[in-house]
Amino acid sequence: MAILIKNGTVVNADETVKADVLIENGIIRQIAPDISVDAAGLTVIDAYGKYLFPGGIDPHVHMHLPTPAGYSSDDFYSGSRAALFGGTTTLIDFVTPHKGEKLVDALNKRKAEAAGSLTDYSFHVSPVEWRDSIPEEVKVCLDEEGITSFKVYMAYKDSIGLEDEALKKVMQAVADAGGMVTVHCEDGDRIDALRNRFFKEGKTTPHYHPLSRPPEAEADAVKKAIDFAAEARCPLYIVHVSSRQSLHHIHTAQQNGQKVYAETCPQYLLLDDSKYEGDFEQTAPFVLSPPLRKTMDNKALWDALENNMVQAVGTDHCPFTMAQKREGMNDFRKIANGAGGVEHRMELLYTYGVAGQKISLNRFVQITSANPAKIFGIYPQKGIIAQGADADIVIWNPDTEKTISTQNHHMHCDSDIFEGFKITGSPEYVIVNGKIAVHNEKWVGKNIKGRFLFRK
Ligand code: URP
Ligand code: ZN
Ligand code: ZN
Repeated sequence: MAILIKNGTVVNADETVKADVLIENGIIRQIAPDISVDAAGLTVIDAYGKYLFPGGIDPHVHMHLPTPAGYSSDDFYSGSRAALFGGTTTLIDFVTPHKGEKLVDALNKRKAEAAGSLTDYSFHVSPVEWRDSIPEEVKVCLDEEGITSFKVYMAYKDSIGLEDEALKKVMQAVADAGGMVTVHCEDGDRIDALRNRFFKEGKTTPHYHPLSRPPEAEADAVKKAIDFAAEARCPLYIVHVSSRQSLHHIHTAQQNGQKVYAETCPQYLLLDDSKYEGDFEQTAPFVLSPPLRKTMDNKALWDALENNMVQAVGTDHCPFTMAQKREGMNDFRKIANGAGGVEHRMELLYTYGVAGQKISLNRFVQITSANPAKIFGIYPQKGIIAQGADADIVIWNPDTEKTISTQNHHMHCDSDIFEGFKITGSPEYVIVNGKIAVHNEKWVGKNIKGRFLFRK
């Protein structure tokens, strides 16, 4: 199957050119000013006035995540389909083994769960405890399975979080094997003490979620993770950075030449903690961790994105239905943490970043696609529109207008934290591995199947 995209403007991380693009058998074959092909079955798309972006890469999603409130409400099929509607064509999810389970065994189980994905995918693998075999298990994941990143949690101490000594040893093992640690930075002990204190005092509503997870609990954990990573000489990627104080430590480490990358998410750029004022039904959708912060944090994160202190934007997509959220009706500690967003990342960043004149078109491509591809070892297979790359291309109409709503989104979730947000610009075509999946908000995909990516 071949597709010829004519007259579009190709936007990559470092240049913007007017060119035609020829796709054959899932690969970009040619990029040139005026391509003409005479082939049977060729699909020709006129992209005059449109941008061609490399397909989005969301480096932080949780499909079908097991929690005490049940699985997160998107599985790999529904979540990847929603991702494609929004122009994201590659997902990096997580492998969270049970205690005692070998990393590679958990990885193989997770691969089976992800088999329904329509987009290509990979995983960050989480050592959830220290044991002497971890260095060898990490090496197997890296050398034989194409897993280059290992996720650790400093919160959630009662389940998957690591104590400091375990964290240091995991970082050393990952550094020795040549990998990268990705980390959820929140001081678990401090948060647990605050959560329990509030509950004992009868403070049980979502209002106390952000108060029990203050920005200092994130910033102190960021500082600790950076110090441990420096000691181990381990490359570090800090997920879902939400606070101004955290950025201070990240900036200092980067200035010192340490390999520290940072990710933020649309919710930390565009929403604030006023969302925790109201009744349970209004506020529970916003219970996610770290919590929403202040407008000054939003601003600091936009600045950090602009000046490359933050290199990537993920979504932390982890939706739950309201029925699931209601498990915590009388105890905010029991509200399933997380919200959906995989479908909205590109449109929100385009609308409020590019059209809002905060970031350039090239910066948009860097933070949504090229940087995640480079950081996580899938560049230049992905993250760029170039000859030989996978044909994951979004043809973007910069002039469309719409409003985000639970009524028209494709995520499997009956609330939407971006409900009512106005959008300017959206995908006209989404092409994944050389096949058209979405055209003008309609699903047109046939025989689309994602693959597990071996990263290097
Ligand atoms: O609230 C969130 N973020 N849920 C997903 C798990 C995590 O911490 O990333
Ligand atoms: Zn997290
Ligand atoms: Zn997460």
